Parts: sequence; structure tokens; C-alpha cells
Amino acid sequence: MSDVADRLAALGAEAAGCTRCGLAATRTQVVFGAGSPEADVMFVGEAPGFHEDQQGVPFVGAAGKLLDQLLGEIGVARDDVYIGNVLKCRPPSNRDPKPDEIEACKGYLAEQLRLIDPAVVVTLGNFATKLLLKRDVGITRTRGQVYPWWGRHLVPTFHPAAALRGGDRILGQMREDFALVRSVLDRRVGQEADPVAEQLGMFE
Ligand code: URA
Repeated sequence: MSDVADRLAALGAEAAGCTRCGLAATRTQVVFGAGSPEADVMFVGEAPGFHEDQQGVPFVGAAGKLLDQLLGEIGVARDDVYIGNVLKCRPPSNRDPKPDEIEACKGYLAEQLRLIDPAVVVTLGNFATKLLLKRDVGITRTRGQVYPWWGRHLVPTFHPAAALRGGDRILGQMREDFALVRSVLDRRVGQEADPVAEQLGMFE
């Protein structure tokens, strides 16, 4: 295993017993994250849902199927990306994350981002986008462009669950945002690796 894979595994083992917030009492298990430690693209969702809580893997339900489809459309395999969430534990009845839960959990996400150091971060929905961009602006107004982010690129888009509820218009806009991800990856071909991002203060 690579050094990054080892360190992610160690962090995941630590998170598995986490009691930093009240969700420890209601979860089936911690859903730490999944995918390639060498990923160029990292997705950040909101929080595990029912199926994720049961299986311990992010985005395995209907929203995950749509995510897989959109990835396939830009020629990226799920195994080549990394997928994590703002919260590592399912909120009861899939309610919204609470500020104190985000505060308690965000250190795990910061460390995942620092270790994986992806070229492109894709935030799915309001919670991930507001946390990483540090802007209290909704996803409808934020999406549709690439943001510079700690020497990397950040592409905000809707949460796939919003497209499942909201239909073709939202799905079309997600396709536009995934095309932005593709174009950032294509521009990087043949480039020197970027300097390592200083990401430690990313949520300060
Ligand atoms: N929704 C999320 O935000 N994350 C998951 O892992 C599953 C559904």
C-alpha cells in the first residue's frame, strides 16, 4: 500500500470509533470514504443516507447510481476517484447536518483532502460547497464555474439527489458542471504537477 493509502486507512480506523458528536449514538457505522488514494478528482457529498449507513460505503443508493452515470459520461471510472462526505455518520431520518456536527467532523474531511491532494474537488450540494468555499451562497448561484481552491480547482454542483427530485433542468446543469471537471482534467494533461497545496487552514 502507498503511504497515502496507509495514512487514509489509519484515519478511517480512528474515525470508525468516533464519538465527537451525537450521531455516534444513532449510526449503524461510520462511512469514512471510498476510492483511489491517488485520485485526481475528489467528490464531497453531504452525509450518508440509509443504504450508506447500512453498507459503510458512500453513494451506494439512487444518488450514487446517478453519480456513477455522470462520471461515466465524462469517461471517468468510479474506482479512479475518491468520494467522501461532510459528515461521516448518517443523520437520523436523513435530516440536514447541524452546525455542531459539521464542526466536529470537518477535521476528517480536511485530512482526507490533504492526503489525497486531488487536482479537482467537486462539491455536491449546499453543505459541501459552503464549507469548502467558505461562502454562504446557495448552490444554484455558485455552480457553473471553476473556482481556484488552495492551488487546486473546485467545481460546485448540485447534489445528485436534487437532480433525482428536480428533473431534467438540474440534471442538465449537472452535466455542464461535469463537463467543467473533464475540461480541467484535459488541460492538466502533460503539465507539471502543481505545487503541493497548503491546505491545513482550509476550514479556518
Ligand atoms: N448522499 C450523500 O450526500 N452522501 C452519500 O454518501 C449518500 C447520499
